[in-house]
Amino acid sequence: MKVKSILFARNRLFILDQTSLPQKEKFVEITSIKEAYSALKKLKVRGAPLIGVFAAYALYVSVKNIADSKKLLKKLKSNASLLKAARPTAVNLFWAIERMLETATKVSGSAPEIKKALLQEAKSIHLQDQKLCENIARFGVRLISKKDAILTHCNTGFLATAGIGTALGVIYRAFDKYGDIKVYVDETRPLLQGARLTAWELKKYGVPAVLISDNMAGFLMQKKKINKIIVGADRITKKGDVANKIGTYSLAVLARYHRIPFYVAAPFSSFDLNLKKGEDIPIEQRKEEEVKMVLGKCPLAPSGIEVWNPAFDVTPASLISAIITDRGIIYPPLGRNIRKIINPHTS
Ligand code: MRU
Repeated sequence: MKVKSILFARNRLFILDQTSLPQKEKFVEITSIKEAYSALKKLKVRGAPLIGVFAAYALYVSVKNIADSKKLLKKLKSNASLLKAARPTAVNLFWAIERMLETATKVSGSAPEIKKALLQEAKSIHLQDQKLCENIARFGVRLISKKDAILTHCNTGFLATAGIGTALGVIYRAFDKYGDIKVYVDETRPLLQGARLTAWELKKYGVPAVLISDNMAGFLMQKKKINKIIVGADRITKKGDVANKIGTYSLAVLARYHRIPFYVAAPFSSFDLNLKKGEDIPIEQRKEEEVKMVLGKCPLAPSGIEVWNPAFDVTPASLISAIITDRGIIYPPLGRNIRKIINPHTS
């Protein structure tokens, strides 16, 4: 079973609209930079690796009808800045956009030549992400045993990447290998990526899954219902501190108390070696309605109540048992070992 989260066909870009899931499986076309920005902002397309792939294609689409090379380069730059501003935390977005900008400046040719190179680069980012996912899974499976019960948070699978996923990719390949593993899924308030997306994916794949609300995780651990936790990442610093969906840090603290291994799975493109520590990671703040309502409906709180809505939190390296990457498993001390495995100059 494979779910396609993004599609580029006949020179047109389509995404599976994740805000319609699990009720409707609907592809929407992205034809302009405005639509691309809005799709990112509204989380129609989401997940760190996928938004990188998406931004690459969206940049190409946004300039594909421009005939003058100077105009094209100018537009490309301003469109790149706009897309970067849509989601500040996941570094994969910046990584992919920078690759597209570099490609355009390297081709000092006519507009058709620049466009050809841009499309080629977007396709190569797309293909690369699929391979990165498979490699993460190949390494990650080594940490999983028959009958494991694994807790995961947010969505890190087919819907968050262009391939089988990061944390969920490990789970899928472990399921392929052992058959009997069980997954507990955090609902992941406020936008419910766990309940809406991960539960949907796991069901489609046939992996036994149990949905819990976020505040049940501590009791779940106390009752010894899980023996491993695997999550994804939006940005990993030089020191090994990890930004991921809000709620990840709480799980890591609980895991330490209950002596449960806490793993992070991410491709090399999620590492930001320019940032030393977690405090340096920009954290996206989102609208208060997301907390005051359930997906834009069912008002939960009195109007006028103050809301704090960070989309991500930072888990310090000291709470992480290992980071599973496409280049191998990085064990503590993370700071030292990240430097050995992740080379900032290779893409
Ligand atoms: O706000 P989202 O849904 O884009 O957040 C996604 C996450 O936090 C994922 O865990 C992370 O991007 C890794 S996806 C492989």
